[in-house]
Amino acid sequence: MPEAIEEEVARRRTFAIIAHPDAGKTTLTEKLLLFGGAIQLAGEVKAKKDKIQTRSDWMKIERERGISVVTSVMTFEYEDNVFNLLDTPGHEDFADDTYRTLSAVDSAVMVIDAAKGIEPRTLKLFEVCRLRDIPIITFVNKMDRESRDPFEILDEIEQKLALDTAPITWPIGRGKTFSGTYHLALNAVRKGDDEKERTPVNGPDSNRVAGLLPENEREAFIEELELAREACRALDIEAFREGHLTPVYFGSALRNYGVRDLIEALGAFGPPPRAQEADTRKVEATEEKMTSFVFKIQANMDPNHRDRIAFVRVCSGKLERGMKAKLVRTGKPMSLSAPQFFFARTRVTADEAFAGDVVGIPNHGTLRIGDTLTEGEEILFRGVPNFAPEILRRVRLGDAMKAKKLKEALHQMAEEGVVQLFSPEDGSPAIVGVVGALQLDVLKERLNFEYTLPVEFEMSRFSVCRWISADDKAEVLRFIEAHRGDIARDLDNDPVFLAQHAFSLNYEAERWKAIKFATIKDYQ
Ligand code: G4P
Repeated sequence: MPEAIEEEVARRRTFAIIAHPDAGKTTLTEKLLLFGGAIQLAGEVKAKKDKIQTRSDWMKIERERGISVVTSVMTFEYEDNVFNLLDTPGHEDFADDTYRTLSAVDSAVMVIDAAKGIEPRTLKLFEVCRLRDIPIITFVNKMDRESRDPFEILDEIEQKLALDTAPITWPIGRGKTFSGTYHLALNAVRKGDDEKERTPVNGPDSNRVAGLLPENEREAFIEELELAREACRALDIEAFREGHLTPVYFGSALRNYGVRDLIEALGAFGPPPRAQEADTRKVEATEEKMTSFVFKIQANMDPNHRDRIAFVRVCSGKLERGMKAKLVRTGKPMSLSAPQFFFARTRVTADEAFAGDVVGIPNHGTLRIGDTLTEGEEILFRGVPNFAPEILRRVRLGDAMKAKKLKEALHQMAEEGVVQLFSPEDGSPAIVGVVGALQLDVLKERLNFEYTLPVEFEMSRFSVCRWISADDKAEVLRFIEAHRGDIARDLDNDPVFLAQHAFSLNYEAERWKAIKFATIKDYQ
């Protein structure tokens, strides 16, 4: 394999931040970009913050989002590393989008509020990471406020997540007296992120540490640090990479403490791009030929151009501007004439991208979520999931003359992952499915705004949707034949069973033992 590719891949770090709302994800993102030189002044990411309580407010913000450049990926460099930070939506109604994004990262930073510990959404997102064996680095944020005891926080992570912890740094002071971090293994101190280098010290009783703490806290700190050294685990990189252990950092994103510790950690031992599972084989990141997959589609990033950007994670080789790739789903060639890198506020044409990188590919509906691009090989990446919708609705259109336009628009929205679309076998109008109610608002707003199609939603007689399969294909056909009125096809023409309620699903599952009713489908 060419050395250049190997070197480039080794310095890539592709990660997401997972957190319960308000723990500090936006602030930390901003500071990572700030220290990575991607933005000049803090405050730029903040503009996009989704602080909205009501739906109408949310829609307004969403519209504004189309105007400001808010992007799903942010690339920045720090020392020798190239980082791709993938953003995940804050609201749980967009959970499916978050799960798809997590299919494209190699590690995650879990942000915890030092006063609140593990909150429900942290737990849920953590579970998704665990399912995918994504290694996690923990950042305990808001140490500048009243917080829990660090030992208590470590204990809670171990108990609630069944995950070993290894504190790498220890907070010097707490709340008002929080004034830096102490690197346990290196015996070195960093006062704040303004200090690029850590200062080596003789130990926790050194003058440098003493100078950072009020007199009445010094002794307690020395004892605490000794206890941390004795009682806590040391970093075991293998255990971390396998997802059994999380290195823990303490800091305050707002006040610039611990952010550099975190970036350095990602650079030093964060996993480089992992091998990706495809249908017929595993693809190593350092392979020469380019392979990649689409995990997200974002429309209207620039309303002047009505553009549609497919976010592609490069899995191997080198993606070069102008190259011809094969879109495996259709077998057709596709010219990658203008791949783009995204920084905080700007995007630039990407001349070349390597495994781990995420580039945006402008297109007008050619690419859809889950698509694989290669240099010719017939492989399909698995793992961009589709979740059975929780809400099923029919779309009612005021103007019947526009039915065809609506059909096309819904198809496009489904390809972008805004909603899922199911076409009943009996020819009745399509049903849209979503995981969270806000997705319906987005659909309505976009149909109105982009396609001038004002719509309303009607209850469907179904409330449950499951993908059906069986080892014996004939059995699936028999099931479909016996339930024609309750079968629909998804975008890939795969059959789903629609049930009025969970009770009828359970009833059918009892009667048709050979049929699998799946709540998750991997795009393939
Ligand atoms: P999120 O994206 O995870 O939802 O959280 P975000 O960064 O927006 O932070 C939520 C709130 O917590 C913000 O305050 C933010 O300023 C504050 N915050 C974040 N990191 C720290 C920290 O290290 N220390 C302290 N003390 N506060 C922190 P807000 O009042 O909701 O917003 P704002 O009006 O201050 O911008």
